[in-house]
Amino acid sequence: MDGSQLDFAQIRAQFPILQQTENGQPLVYLDGGATSQKPLQVIEALDRYYREQNANVHRGVYGLSERATELYEGARETSRQFLNAKSIKEIVFVRGTTEAVNLVAHSWGLANLKAGDEVIVTEMEHHSNIVPWQLLRDQLGIRLNVLRMNDRGEICLNALKSQMSEKTKLLAVTHMSNALGTINPVKEMTEIAHSFGAKVLVDGAQATPHMTVDVQDIGCDFYALSGHKMYGPTGIGVLYGKEELLDVMPPYQGGGDMIYSVTFEKTEYNVLPYKFEAGTPHISGAIGLAEAMKFMQSIGLDRIAAYEASLLKYATEQLKTIEGLRVIGEAEHKGGVISFIIEGVHPHDMATLMDQDGIAVRASHHCAMPVMQHFNVPATIRASLGVYNNKSDIDRLVASILEAKEMLL
Ligand code: ALA
Repeated sequence: MDGSQLDFAQIRAQFPILQQTENGQPLVYLDGGATSQKPLQVIEALDRYYREQNANVHRGVYGLSERATELYEGARETSRQFLNAKSIKEIVFVRGTTEAVNLVAHSWGLANLKAGDEVIVTEMEHHSNIVPWQLLRDQLGIRLNVLRMNDRGEICLNALKSQMSEKTKLLAVTHMSNALGTINPVKEMTEIAHSFGAKVLVDGAQATPHMTVDVQDIGCDFYALSGHKMYGPTGIGVLYGKEELLDVMPPYQGGGDMIYSVTFEKTEYNVLPYKFEAGTPHISGAIGLAEAMKFMQSIGLDRIAAYEASLLKYATEQLKTIEGLRVIGEAEHKGGVISFIIEGVHPHDMATLMDQDGIAVRASHHCAMPVMQHFNVPATIRASLGVYNNKSDIDRLVASILEAKEMLL
């Protein structure tokens, strides 16, 4: 184990929910892929906001509103730094990754795509990075092409090269698969897509909790994240977009705050990023998200990645000792997600029994049905890791599987 183990107990102690029991057993939470638990730092920031700082933003001339605005805009600057975007104009607060992808599909897609154009998605995408493009396909007559993965759950760059053409206008790819844990080479994929003149949207919902993300280094045109997967609140996320693209994209929604002036004849839109933030935003969410980013930065994103990599290695080794267990997704580059099935046992039955032991895992298609189709399974059991997990959680997971297996087989 690397040096981050030294303060691991302290990090874990910052998550109050982990002190509680579930079905009489200490909670082992292994479902960060669905939503992460929240540290005190985030919970307290939300509490403080509603107790002492709550007011609408960009609207009031009174002190309380100005302070709320400072906090909200401060959260945008924190997000800019977190992603290493060039400008706060490139940071749009949205509801989460799903809304970010839909925003790009509706705004950029409707303005830039026409019948015959192609969008490429990978076989390992979450439904939220498939369905918006299907909606657009049905509306515009574009083609949706699928970049297949191999049986380890990896994308081959040569396959991408051979699938790209001058008709390809967008590559929409996940940075890290929620169902398999695969970390995709998004920088290299972006270079390939750009060499064909296509834009690139990266779904970063699963990557941002686990690793350093530098949008300038990746070079992508759009990058989406969800706050609740990275120790922040639900209902808030970020769409990063290159300024030159966002600048010419039409608004996604109309309403207050996204306008400069309105008459019945004509509306002039606000500047970036406000053009894309219609209505009162999720102020507390943005503040909580910024606090979550600071929490992660205080540990160090690289240390988080190293710690989780060692935990993933331990989990994989231990799980593979279980007879009949098959790991689904064995990419060389993986983040803290391990999906598996057990011969002769339905994942839902197994996860239901594990809940009796206080173990929270997800048993599902993980909103990635094409991944299940690739591996010819109805669902998998997925343990997804966070900074608050430890080897003892893995030992309890393994013991619970063995016990449940005895009962089910
Ligand atoms: N996308 C979330 C997951 O992977 C809900 O569980």
